[in-house]
Amino acid sequence: MRLDKLLGHMGFGSRSEIKRWAKAGLITVNGAAIKDSGKQVDPDADDVQFDGQKVEYREYVYIMLHKPPGVISATEDRRERTVIDLLPDDMLCFEPFPVGRLDKDTEGLLLLTNDGKLSHELLAPRKHVPKTYFARVKGDVTEDDVAAMALGVTLDDGYVTKPAQLVIKSKESLPTEEVISHIELTITEGKFHQVKRMFESVGKQVVYLKRLTMGPLQLDSELPIGQWRELSEDELASLQQATS
Ligand code: URA
Repeated sequence: MRLDKLLGHMGFGSRSEIKRWAKAGLITVNGAAIKDSGKQVDPDADDVQFDGQKVEYREYVYIMLHKPPGVISATEDRRERTVIDLLPDDMLCFEPFPVGRLDKDTEGLLLLTNDGKLSHELLAPRKHVPKTYFARVKGDVTEDDVAAMALGVTLDDGYVTKPAQLVIKSKESLPTEEVISHIELTITEGKFHQVKRMFESVGKQVVYLKRLTMGPLQLDSELPIGQWRELSEDELASLQQATS
């Protein structure tokens, strides 16, 4: 790989800036200053340093974000804050993007990466990657709803969903005598507003939604809302295995 490509990918600057840094003697490869920023280097074997700091090259990043409400699952938008705005500058050079979408008001697990192949595999309908959501639902969610979801329900556009697993966790009675059900729903597809529309199809309204899992990946309970961390090697390996 060309030295300027490697450093550019790692966010050290534009090609012309890197050319200038090299001319100024700031870039070394295996201890020797390299004036030609077009030199070929082996990112795995060569010791590349910028201004005395080792450059740890990697092509891909895998980020777990605890998405807060109020930001959209996009890389850029003229009006709204996006999930990318929650990442620090030194992650942006990798050009991560969200794997699938959560609604603006949905919270929870969102994976961001620049690995197009893994993203594609995780979203491919034929892979049926399960996703589990926690929801607060207005109304009394019953065993009839559990049975309906297990068969598949008909959405407002006539689409019949794949079987989904609904677990009723608890119920909350409001002072108004209204009941709010706390549930977990596992689906293996990703239609637009799917969870909300599945409950609408049984006459109930989701008032809070949070994604807990995507395939083998679980939202880290220690990760505060709005924060992110990179996946561990084990988490990445399990995701890769789930899609292979
Ligand atoms: N289903 C929804 O309705 N919204 C989401 O954000 C995710 C799944």
